[in-house]
Amino acid sequence: MRNLVLFGPPGAGKGTQSERLQDHYQLFHLSTGDIFRYNIKNETALGRKAKAYIDQGQLVPDELTIHMLAQELDKHPEAAGFIFDGFPRTTAQAQALDKLMEQHQTQITAMLALEVEEEELRKRLLARAEVSGRSDDADPAVIQKRIDVYRQETEPVKKYYQSQSKLDQINGMGTIDEVTKRLFEAVDARP
Ligand code: AP5
Ligand code: MG
Repeated sequence: MRNLVLFGPPGAGKGTQSERLQDHYQLFHLSTGDIFRYNIKNETALGRKAKAYIDQGQLVPDELTIHMLAQELDKHPEAAGFIFDGFPRTTAQAQALDKLMEQHQTQITAMLALEVEEEELRKRLLARAEVSGRSDDADPAVIQKRIDVYRQETEPVKKYYQSQSKLDQINGMGTIDEVTKRLFEAVDARP
């Protein structure tokens, strides 16, 4: 089983590249942001709890997020492996993910961390704001908050995977195809 963490700041290309990895390696794509947005749209209890955090560019509390992810994993026992997009975002989430992988008799293969300059992130997100309908893309102040929260709370998670020799830092600048090629090379280097 191959389980990949696709990591990076807002707008780094996690969602875009997850689609490519999913098709190429036959993995199941789990995006916590997409799951939250689905729940918000359908006005579930989880969606109601998560909405205020997401609209402000803050992280949804670990307890809610970890519980949701555990349930999602259980929904896909047939999967040959997962791409985790947007999870883990805190060290507590990374520890919880290791436990969940153990319970499923598997483990994380690698963390692929997309590195993109901040100016480029802002450019991509502002462009997407025109079409995405995402509440957290609409306001430049919320975009900045998401980037700041990434630097403060999420980026330290790299150290967790580095200490397990699972961190692959990937240049996320350039065209979508160029980044995909770098990701495939990194995954293939870890059989
Ligand atoms: P989430 O949905 O994960 O959003 P995010 O991390 O802010 O990232 P994005 O989805 O905006 O960007 P992406 O990296 O997927 O890039 P994309 O491929 O779309 O999370 C949203 C919120 O949910 C969080 O703020 C938080 O509140 C909550 N949340 C989620 N997970 C959580 C967790 N684990 N714990 C707690 N809270 C959680 O690309 C962006 C744009 O750029 C697109 O338009 C794309 O077409 C374009 N693009 C991509 N690659 C390139 C390229 N190489 N060149 C030019 N353009 C490109
Ligand atoms: Mg995304």
